[in-house]
Amino acid sequence: MTGLTLKDIRKSYGSVDVLHGIDLEIKEGEFVVFVGPSGCGKSTLLRMIAGLENITGGDMYIDGQLVNDVPPSKRGIAMVFQSYALYPHMTVYDNMAFGMKIAGENKQEIDRRVRAAAESLQLTKYLDRLPKALSGGQRQRVAIGRAICRNPKVFLFDEPLSNLDAALRVATRIEIARLNEQMADTTMIYVTHDQVEAMTLADRIVVLSAGNIEQVGAPLELYERPANLFVAKFIGSPAMNVIPAKITDAGTSTTVTLTGGKSVTLDIPTPVSEKGKTASFGVRPEDLRIAGATDDYLFEGEVAIVESLGEVTLLYIEGLVPNEPIIVKLPGTHDVTRGQKMHFSAERSKLHLFDADGRTYRK
Ligand SMILES: Nc1ncnc2c1ncn2[C@@H]1O[C@H](COP(=O)(O)OP(=O)(O)O)[C@@H](O)[C@H]1O
Ligand SMILES: [Mg+2]
Repeated sequence: MTGLTLKDIRKSYGSVDVLHGIDLEIKEGEFVVFVGPSGCGKSTLLRMIAGLENITGGDMYIDGQLVNDVPPSKRGIAMVFQSYALYPHMTVYDNMAFGMKIAGENKQEIDRRVRAAAESLQLTKYLDRLPKALSGGQRQRVAIGRAICRNPKVFLFDEPLSNLDAALRVATRIEIARLNEQMADTTMIYVTHDQVEAMTLADRIVVLSAGNIEQVGAPLELYERPANLFVAKFIGSPAMNVIPAKITDAGTSTTVTLTGGKSVTLDIPTPVSEKGKTASFGVRPEDLRIAGATDDYLFEGEVAIVESLGEVTLLYIEGLVPNEPIIVKLPGTHDVTRGQKMHFSAERSKLHLFDADGRTYRK
């Protein structure tokens, strides 16, 4: 059982608090992604799990064992970084074998593990090459292979794809997903600021902001039921449209008046005491549909920008919140021109409502 337990984990650099008390349970074999904007503390948390950073406060358990003072080499962990850090003068084979040689592993075992790792990462035909003769994606796969060879109980990745161009990023991401299936018992923790990587790789996502956990959940859970505005805006692309609103009727359903004057009733209950309070109304770009002027539309506005991407069309609609166009994402191509007045609607079940502090009103 190689689960991890983090209890009130804190980190400060001098007087600067970076992590404010992280509580988290990670199960054996789980693929957990830490996601959040740059500087929120993802790498710091990962490095603390690896043992590369001291723990300022709280307790960390791996396999049920308190590891606060256990050195990195004794934690059964392997880590892959953004920079591959391969030895330039060593072949792919020797780069992957190096750690095991140092550890005094026997030759047959080294050979078996290197070849198995190379096979699973499709690197077999490159084993005799030097890193400089490989693409960025292949180099990162060598770095991953080197980590696999150490037979880790917990596999840590810190933004392993950020140095790769878009196409290689997708290919290597698929490689990592495949690896996760092959190594089903190995716990993996993966740090990224890219919500697409988080959504596609994770069993569970941990959303961090400014040193705190905002929400933990399965990818679609975060997408469909974000706990607050931060998660709502961070997960999904383009981001959820948010319109300031006022609660004009509360109860088993809630009526809000949006900035711009339109009144909308949502199937979301709110306590009667919320009546009169300010709130934020949310709707995702992909949940909006074109409506007729006589329909029960959600809002109207003027098309400011049309982006035709082939598979989808993005419309930027002005007229509701000044300088904050509403983004509409429509499948396929549409004959829409700038300056056109349009109406949009959305299914009631797809609407979101947040209180003045950004917390979600639960359905
Ligand atoms: N060695 C350090 N000394 C002082 N501050 C640091 C150090 N390492 C990280 N920080 C600060 O901690 C915060 C979190 O950093 P980091 O974990 O690298 O964020 P992320 O990986 O989410 O981008 C940042 O504000 C960063 O400036
Ligand atoms: Mg980082």
